[in-house]
Amino acid sequence: MRVTLEQACDLLKSGLVIAVPTETVYGLAASIDFPNAIQDIFRLKGRPADNPLIVHAASVEEVAEYVREKPPHFEKLASSFWPGPMTLILPVIEEEVPAVARAGLPTAAFRVPVHPLTLQLLQETGPLVMPSANLSGKPSATSAQHVEEDFGSGFSVLDGGSCQKGMESTILCWKGSEWVIIRLGALPPEAFFPVLGYLPQVNLGGNGQQERPLCPGQLYRHYAPNAKLTLLESIPQERQGVVIGFSDRTYPKGCRLYPLGSSKDPEAAAHQLYAVLRQLDADGIQEAMVDMNFPAQGLWLTLRERLQKAARV
Ligand code: TXA
Ligand code: MG
Repeated sequence: MRVTLEQACDLLKSGLVIAVPTETVYGLAASIDFPNAIQDIFRLKGRPADNPLIVHAASVEEVAEYVREKPPHFEKLASSFWPGPMTLILPVIEEEVPAVARAGLPTAAFRVPVHPLTLQLLQETGPLVMPSANLSGKPSATSAQHVEEDFGSGFSVLDGGSCQKGMESTILCWKGSEWVIIRLGALPPEAFFPVLGYLPQVNLGGNGQQERPLCPGQLYRHYAPNAKLTLLESIPQERQGVVIGFSDRTYPKGCRLYPLGSSKDPEAAAHQLYAVLRQLDADGIQEAMVDMNFPAQGLWLTLRERLQKAARV
């Protein structure tokens, strides 16, 4: 059910959970002042309680009110990338952020989104705690319709159109001497070089790097359609079936293409990815091949990681 900005404000201020747009993906929002509503988010998504949520605020100043200690370069990062698709993990004043939102950690994730409707909403409601508005494990929602597919047509959604980026924010965490990327996202690692003076390391956990990933969400299966995905560097000529690939390439005769856009345009592919994964489910597709012949850098790196997670059984 689509709601107006005014209705969205009222619902959030009365302690209810609704879906709101951002420039990355839709979020399932509750006011930071209602721990019970935040608890409801976990229940609605089927999200494990040890996977913390992101606090979204209208400005850097508002974020600063919750932060116990600002790591080096905080101001520079914030003024360069906020509002926008960057999330920072920061030590918090624990009484100010409900423990349920941060899964009991002494830190919390913060972001100032750039979607005009969301910013207007945040100015009215104060900070909103929100994860992506999808059932846990499923592809994220990049339109109001996607949200309704997961939560039903009666669920309240503030419709902000199709998300401009279509890919989640990039998450950075201060690790004693440097900022580290703990989740790849809409901003590629290279984007941070001019601001930090170094290319932040990417540490997604797994790979024997450490027992617990720095970003708890990395532990879980994610972004996955029902279809079994097979990732291929090239699609063999004799293969037939469904291909997630690029509109400027030719695939073996008899293949049915779900296009991510041009192979020269990572932004378009990022924008399309979740819509394509969801379309597979809508069309009842059981198996699909994915054309992985694209660079391992920039935003392509994020796409590669999302597809690898979506393909994991
Ligand atoms: O673009 C986005 O970031 C979207 C929109 C709605 O803002 N949100 C989003 O939220 O992707 P979610 O919940 O799907 O992913 C947040 C990630 C999770 O993997 C979680 O483990 C991690 O952030 N996270 C949250 N708090 C953390 C903390 N204190 N330390 C480490 N990781 C944290
Ligand atoms: Mg998510």
